[in-house]
Amino acid sequence: MSEPATVPPADKSMDELVALCKRRGFIFPASEVYGGINGFWDYGPLGTDLKNNLRDAWWNDLVRSPPAGPDGQPLSLVGLDSSIIQNPRVWEASGHVGGFNDPMQTCRQCKKLFRADHVPDMLSESDWPKAAADAAGVDPAGTELTPDVDGLRKWAQRKAKKVAPGLALVRDPDNVLTAMGSSLGSFAGLLAALATPPGEEAATPCPACGGDLTAPRQFNLMFETFVGAVRNEDARAYLRPETAQGIFLNYRNVLDTMRVKVPFGIAQIGKAFRNEVTPRNFIFRSREFEQMEVEWFCHPNDAQTWYEFWCAHRREWWQGLGLSAENLYLRSHDADELAHYAKDGCGTYDIEYRFPFTAPGYGELEGVAHRSDFDLRQHQEHSGTKMEYFDQERNERYIPHVIEPSAGLSRGVLALLCEAFTPDPERPSKVYMRFHPRVAPIQAAVFPLVNKDGMPEVAAKLYNDLRGTWKTQLDVKQTIGKRYARMDEAGTPFCFTIDGDTLQDQTVTVRHRDSLQQERIGIDRVREFLTERL
Ligand code: GAP
Repeated sequence: MSEPATVPPADKSMDELVALCKRRGFIFPASEVYGGINGFWDYGPLGTDLKNNLRDAWWNDLVRSPPAGPDGQPLSLVGLDSSIIQNPRVWEASGHVGGFNDPMQTCRQCKKLFRADHVPDMLSESDWPKAAADAAGVDPAGTELTPDVDGLRKWAQRKAKKVAPGLALVRDPDNVLTAMGSSLGSFAGLLAALATPPGEEAATPCPACGGDLTAPRQFNLMFETFVGAVRNEDARAYLRPETAQGIFLNYRNVLDTMRVKVPFGIAQIGKAFRNEVTPRNFIFRSREFEQMEVEWFCHPNDAQTWYEFWCAHRREWWQGLGLSAENLYLRSHDADELAHYAKDGCGTYDIEYRFPFTAPGYGELEGVAHRSDFDLRQHQEHSGTKMEYFDQERNERYIPHVIEPSAGLSRGVLALLCEAFTPDPERPSKVYMRFHPRVAPIQAAVFPLVNKDGMPEVAAKLYNDLRGTWKTQLDVKQTIGKRYARMDEAGTPFCFTIDGDTLQDQTVTVRHRDSLQQERIGIDRVREFLTERL
């Protein structure tokens, strides 16, 4: 059966994907009836199933049935579910109180906040810089630009008042244009000149309104709360910004109770919270999200081998769930990006995915970090509890080194949604979701062609037979075309239709979502058909 060609990420519209997610019950803005709350999202019925399927696939493939390691033997991994709120000293030891900061800039005009390193991208995505380039008659990619001063003055007095009211050019056109000079170098230089109030140092323009941004200030990303009835310094606590620390805190408990030996891993899935300065790109960067993390404890001499193993394994795993090889990329962190725990010279690899909003580039999906003995040593020093391990085979006492594959569950859902989203003008739905059958929220649908003549009873019997094994939906409403369209948007790989012939010859029509091919199989072969494919 021929499979249709894949659609390049750059040709997929995020607006259309977000609209489909809302329309079909994958993801809704949180608190929508109150106008929403920036950086928070709710998962609807289909989104919850999609997320649970991804979560279960990860848990199954790492904890229930771990992969084979470099020596061909299954790895030793155990699960954990630690508390979101821990003793605040945990976050001092981990370095998050002192070092988990992002540089933040505020617009002096519209008061919006921005993450400093996001501003250049946001400027290139926003509309007013393009309008300014048109008014100035310059090519944004050019150098040594000579802007059209009259064009800019006219723009400042009319359209710019709406699209970029914060620009110094709009507030004081004559003085800004006089101070600007005639040749400005790059387009970034021109935008800065338009945003700089007369007599002041060159400003970074606000992506939203063109106003001037403050110098970057460090902003801690942890959400704070208070434990107990009294709100004072002693009661201050934090919502965890990563699930990892809960694992380090329980490393001793697991060693003492589970008879595990180094090398072994502890896996955890759960919520993490970060007060992101600029949450954006749908669920890509949100303030509440879920992570799937493994801390892999090993002998320091073996850490590099395990690091390479985990990088390769994790990339392959995402591919096995349907992310195409050409949309995945393994990128080594630059020295200036390394987290405070990353080991010198080893660092972190990101498994990146080509999202529609990053294409042709990539965005982080999972990080694989070499954390050395940083965290265990920090907790040993701060808590006074020994974190050493006695290795009987080597007759050696040491603090294990840690390799950490840390994936975003929420971001994984976004990657699956982006990969699956396939525009197809030939279909009634104009789009279908090409999920890998393992993660599809509905794996099989059963339709009686018409809601009479004994067909609903046969359909209900088949549905009852399948639903205990696969996520199955029985749909009896509207025309068969509309039912197929609904299942295409939900990404259901197989639909089984009971029609008049079924009652005669005990066969049903199977419709394949991707190829649209239809075939007839015996109703008694449906289970076998699904077992082979799911
Ligand atoms: N324990 C290591 C750690 O937390 P990280 O790179 O900060 O490392 C790991 O986060 C993964 O968590 C990322 O690769 C990403 O998939 C996900 N993630 C991080 N911040 C996120 C956010 N604000 N929204 C959604 N997912 C996020």
